[in-house]
Amino acid sequence: MQFRKGLTTTQAHVDVPAGLYEEEYARQGFFGRTSHLYRSQAPVGWTDIEGDLRPECLRIEHMAGLAQSDFWEGRVAFLQNDDVVISLSRLDKPMPYYFRNADADEVFFVHKGSGELETDFGPLAYEVGDYLVIPRGTVYRFTPAELTSLLVVESFGEVSIPDRGMLGRHALFDVDVIKTPTPDPARYAGLKGEWKLRIKRTGRFTTVTYPFNPINTVGWKGDLTVWQLNVRDIRPVMSERYHLPPSAHTTWLLKNAIICSFLPRSLENGDPGAMKVPFYHSNIDFDEVLFYHAGDFFSRAGIEPGMVTFHAQGIHHGPHPKAVEAAKDKTFTEEQAVMIDTKNPLHLTEAGRSVAMADYWKSWM
Ligand SMILES: [Fe+2]
Repeated sequence: MQFRKGLTTTQAHVDVPAGLYEEEYARQGFFGRTSHLYRSQAPVGWTDIEGDLRPECLRIEHMAGLAQSDFWEGRVAFLQNDDVVISLSRLDKPMPYYFRNADADEVFFVHKGSGELETDFGPLAYEVGDYLVIPRGTVYRFTPAELTSLLVVESFGEVSIPDRGMLGRHALFDVDVIKTPTPDPARYAGLKGEWKLRIKRTGRFTTVTYPFNPINTVGWKGDLTVWQLNVRDIRPVMSERYHLPPSAHTTWLLKNAIICSFLPRSLENGDPGAMKVPFYHSNIDFDEVLFYHAGDFFSRAGIEPGMVTFHAQGIHHGPHPKAVEAAKDKTFTEEQAVMIDTKNPLHLTEAGRSVAMADYWKSWM
């Protein structure tokens, strides 16, 4: 069932009448009931906002307390709800202890740096652009070879790979490109000493001491393990003639949240009437967090790598006016960004609030 009244387009996101702004008003992200509203003014053309619901831009790398040696203490959360905690972590030394998160699966995205991740399943060398997915209960330890900056999503539900639907199971990435660790027992053989394992459960810490290295796996089999996926192995879907919704770029499925990867790709070059920048929306069923990793962020003016935007349910966002103009001549986007969409409202932590740019909401004016 679908209705149509007044001046509209026939095909969404194509041939929007000159001078009008298309808004996508949709439930369930971009999957549920939807209407497109054709407005005479952009819904972000406000002159003032009073109250705490406003688009936010966070300079998370400026948060106080980003220690560079203690893995847990140096991790600073900036947004959270009952399903996820989103943090930035910086490490420049090997962790002095092994760690087990008994509360949550963890998805790490390597923004900067390289090194090694030791796990119960074996070691993995990590580099920029890696997703490292560590299921709840796995023991691990980071040993950075250089200053490492990680975007961290703690997920209180299990992390999985989304179904590809009509695209077929090998679209976006073939699961064969996911790397899993192989045990390397030789490196621990004959070591003498004492090792600490720090366990987090219900937010509290317990330290267990062993007279042997807790990474003593000589083999494993099964389907519950650590995953490593580099964004270079993701092949983004695109359409020459239709602007796909952001959910087409989903990489990981969480409980009440998704993680998407926006990667270099061609724009909608096959039809001059096809929209190239995201449509206006107030994402009424999802909060939306975007971490800008690398490249040129063509739909936002003034954004630099390492920044985060937070667009909560109920207030509009969409491309900046300058970006709409700039996109007209662009045929390709170099942007690399990680998006976290959550069904339940996120809350800014004190640290997150402390690095919020005061005037971001004015950037559309
Ligand atoms: Fe959005």
